[in-house]
Amino acid sequence: MIKDKPHTEIPAHGGRLVNRIIQGAERDRLFSKANDLKKLTLTRRKLCDIEMMAVGAYSPLDGYMGRKDYENVVTSMRLGSGLPWSIPITYRIDRKTAESLREGQDIALVDERQTVLAILHLEEKFEYDKKLAAKAVYRTDSAEHPGVDILYKRGDVLLGGKISVLRLPENREFLPYRLAPAETRAAFKDRGWKTVVGFQTRNPVHRAHEYIQKCALEIVDGLLLHPLIGETKSDDIPADIRMKCYEALLEKYYPKDRVLLSVLPAPMRYAGPREAIHHAIVRKNYGCTHFIVGRDHAGVGSFYGSFDAHHIFDEFAPGELGITPLFFDNTFYCKACGSMASVKTCPHDKNEHVSLSGTKVREMLRAGTLPPTEFSRPEVAKILIEAMRT
Ligand code: ADX
Repeated sequence: MIKDKPHTEIPAHGGRLVNRIIQGAERDRLFSKANDLKKLTLTRRKLCDIEMMAVGAYSPLDGYMGRKDYENVVTSMRLGSGLPWSIPITYRIDRKTAESLREGQDIALVDERQTVLAILHLEEKFEYDKKLAAKAVYRTDSAEHPGVDILYKRGDVLLGGKISVLRLPENREFLPYRLAPAETRAAFKDRGWKTVVGFQTRNPVHRAHEYIQKCALEIVDGLLLHPLIGETKSDDIPADIRMKCYEALLEKYYPKDRVLLSVLPAPMRYAGPREAIHHAIVRKNYGCTHFIVGRDHAGVGSFYGSFDAHHIFDEFAPGELGITPLFFDNTFYCKACGSMASVKTCPHDKNEHVSLSGTKVREMLRAGTLPPTEFSRPEVAKILIEAMRT
């Protein structure tokens, strides 16, 4: 790490970090106007996206996609401007409600308690093809896929337009860890990190995660551990438990001055390869220069090949995404090597490898049995066992 050189930050996607949190007189004006506006209630998933847009994590998006951006993203992984973007960020609504809205209208977006959080400046409403979107974004039109299932169940009309956020969603869990992109960028600068690798995760941390994070840390200045805490499938381990695991692990096994633990308030889409691109772009907005993509990144069931999320990066020109992916093969503990390894580094037979299926691990934890230390740190396994008891 070279601390005496001036720090040059990596630019946000599209060049400028968006901030849609309105303050001062404009905020007061919009608040007083909001009472008379048509109101739409935000679902949990939409609350996550509102926060992501508000703080600039989805830069350059400053609201929900209009038709041109939406269709380009679905068909060619680019916004209307040509800038890479892989996941549609949309406000889906049923036809009947859509009929009551007109383009040019301001709409108040409220939470379950009817608290006004944001104003949607409605620019466009348009129909879209769900099957086409499912096949392009999720690579399947099967409703067995959790992302496709949600897509099929939600409305047939999309609302596009800029948002003005007046108040962030009430649920402010993990506050000390809830850093906006401007804050992670400032933290990297403070620490003198010029290169930072981002790590996306939605599962409890295990040794393979730790190994790939530490391999990456060998070549960059800092690690942004960035667990996703927005909406996930009901059978995923809740974020508060995952965060406890990280706290325990960091305390004992990581160099404190080289790691920043923060949370990503985004919802999980399980879109595998497309979501890997999305996760990388979002981490670029948080100031990361590198991003880890391992085995079956953001995958679910057997919808994707183990390394489809690596191959998709070839669809962009070198340097075009503005963040460098670090690809990892399947990693495991090898008894013959006496260390963590991957097929790239280990010459031994599979039966030397300690690899357990998710189902097997859950069975062990439920029975109160610690999985082998080669698979999970005991400090982490104990937290998971305890969580399963309650
Ligand atoms: S994800 O849905 O957020 O991708 P998870 O938290 O399990 O799920 O994975 C976080 C990151 O670690 C992803 O980049 C994933 O590809 C990678 N990963 C998880 N397990 C392994 C493994 N055994 N070998 C290599 N990479 C892995």
